[in-house]
Amino acid sequence: MTDQPVRTERRGDALLVTIDNPPVNVVSQAVRAGLLAAAAEARAGLVSGAIRRVVLTGAGRAFVAGADAREFDLPPMEPHLPDVLLQLMDLPVVAAINGVALGGGLEIALACRARVAHPSAQLGLPEVTLGVVPGAGGTQRLPRLVGLAAAVSLISEGRLVRAAEALSLGIVDGVEDDVVAAALALDPALLARPAVDASPAPAADADAVSRARAQAASRMRGQIAPQRAIDLVEAAAAVPLADGLARERQTFLDLRKGEQAAALRHVFFAERGAGAPKDLAALTPAALKTALVVGGGTMGAAIAYALSGIGLHVTVLENDEAAVGRARTNVAALFADAVKRGKTDADSAQRKQAEGFAFLHGPDTPLPPVDLAIEAVFEDLAVKRAVFARLGAGLPATTLIATNTSYLDVDAIAETLPEPSRFLGLHFFAPAHVMKLLEVIRARRTSSHTLASAFGLARKLGKIAVEAGVCDGFIGNRILTRYRQTTDILLLEGATPAAVDTALEQFGMAMGPYAVQDLSGLDIAYANRKRKNLKDKPGIRYIAIADRMVEDLKRLGRKSGAGWYDYEGTARRPSADVVALVERTSADAGVTRRVFEAEEIARRAMLAMMAEGFDILAEGIARKPSDIDLVMVHGYGFPRWRGGPMHLADRWGLAAVRDDLARLAKEDPLSWRVPALLDELVKSGAKLASLN
Ligand code: NAI
Repeated sequence: MTDQPVRTERRGDALLVTIDNPPVNVVSQAVRAGLLAAAAEARAGLVSGAIRRVVLTGAGRAFVAGADAREFDLPPMEPHLPDVLLQLMDLPVVAAINGVALGGGLEIALACRARVAHPSAQLGLPEVTLGVVPGAGGTQRLPRLVGLAAAVSLISEGRLVRAAEALSLGIVDGVEDDVVAAALALDPALLARPAVDASPAPAADADAVSRARAQAASRMRGQIAPQRAIDLVEAAAAVPLADGLARERQTFLDLRKGEQAAALRHVFFAERGAGAPKDLAALTPAALKTALVVGGGTMGAAIAYALSGIGLHVTVLENDEAAVGRARTNVAALFADAVKRGKTDADSAQRKQAEGFAFLHGPDTPLPPVDLAIEAVFEDLAVKRAVFARLGAGLPATTLIATNTSYLDVDAIAETLPEPSRFLGLHFFAPAHVMKLLEVIRARRTSSHTLASAFGLARKLGKIAVEAGVCDGFIGNRILTRYRQTTDILLLEGATPAAVDTALEQFGMAMGPYAVQDLSGLDIAYANRKRKNLKDKPGIRYIAIADRMVEDLKRLGRKSGAGWYDYEGTARRPSADVVALVERTSADAGVTRRVFEAEEIARRAMLAMMAEGFDILAEGIARKPSDIDLVMVHGYGFPRWRGGPMHLADRWGLAAVRDDLARLAKEDPLSWRVPALLDELVKSGAKLASLN
């Protein structure tokens, strides 16, 4: 009932307060007001002697999942949660944590006198993942309850814990299946304890604080909120509670209106909005129980492993016996890694491999009649077409058939396939069992039902699925290509690989583009350029540096011991040979080199991503700008806290982006152009976000 999101009822000598704000009891303004009214009712009942305790719980499967996301972009509305919690603080309240207690939900529980949690409940203060800090006492009360070391790590990482861990940390007093019954029967002595606010300040712990700072600096590089959260937890040991609470509130309000919080909220909502588009949501996805994976190399093995992880029986088809041996080894290595990480035990891993997999080889072996087939053979059109001819002839006409190609024309791959409506691209990212992103490629004849089934599969795999149309590189690799062309131009005009990488890593990219190429190998992109014959393509400014790296210097990346950098182990060092090659190429092209500051490098690289993104939208390759952002954040190391290139374009201002692109187009018309869609949006005064 959304009009009455907090209801109260008498249970013996207790007042049972239930937060009922479906689906997950977020703390909306109405919930806060309801809690305030319930606190007043409880206070009156305690004074009159009608009740002796209060039990606070959530209806449905959640206790309270956090703040109301719909209020994120609005000014804070009264009553504010911190004030509501001060009213609960002096009452004998037991939190009966029936399900998730996150953010504001856990802060409510921390203001209670005691806490009982269901075994399945998850608790945590994940605010930093949205670019803010807890805003209703979390940074001050959690350390008072569990000590500074545990609190600072939980809060700065935004980590969630299950009930059992919450119990061992001291966040909850008990774990029970029937939390309301347990709370009603809880030992009154626990209710007679002083409130968290009356307990002594936690002891300072400089080691724990500096560990948390180092961890946040590396794992959440560039983000402000984790460091500010650590400041606040540290202060809990040093300043009176009221001061700590006031600082926390101010920090929360400051961060909430900042760029990083806006970007992180954008990605959060984009993730929520991903998945099957509305027109597909009504269709029932095909039930998939068996799969054929063609090619058991890097991608195929990891795809097979991921499919087996969601219960499919998987057959891996390879060329010959030796290749089957390698495929088996690849799959076994993934299981061994899972055992090492404690995700499964050795026995189950063995059993799963023995019972859940089959391996086939040979050109004439009959194919099993599977529900799903995914092709992951060499990136070669002729090889793939031969595979598809075989799949078309050997599999039922109902089998969902997908290619994992990175760049090839999916329509050309499957030209000969009978029933092309069940065919599509499923572009996984390496490592396929880890990376969250899946590009779902709509081929010319792909049916809605096939797409719906792909989205259903993605959901089961725990992937963020983004639909893309057919073009060279789909969404992600197409933007990547443009981005790399642009940084190559920067090299030609005066930058060095190390300067480009440093600038983009400072900007927040997980790795600079040249370090990434060294990791994946320069030969792959080289072959791709050859295949497309880019060098002789009219209308593009072809930069030959990367070709000369392969042809002249034979530097293929880390696997050859040297690429854009020299390597000692994994430590990279700029290479004088590479810089000399870059300078020579500039001289050959008659380009006078100049200095590029880090900011200009990053801005140009972003403008390239944005420009390509506008074209991708205009061509209908992506459905909406936020899908492009998800692809870049989840597949290409784009900093989540910058929201993705399209979000960033809105934040920079579309007119400014257009002016920058127009200026670049004047200097270098072969490489730059103002996208028509951008021009239109600027003229109409609309933001990209209006297309989401
Ligand atoms: P890989 O070279 O590791 O594996 C290819 C496997 O296919 C080999 O084991 C080979 O024996 C097998 N194979 C070749 N022809 C076959 C045939 N006719 N029948 C059965 N098996 C055959 O290659 P990788 O990296 O796994 O790539 C496979 C596909 O995935 C390519 O299309 C690639 O573009 C795409 N892809 C690769 C990504 C990556 O990061 N490596 C990312 C996303 C897509």
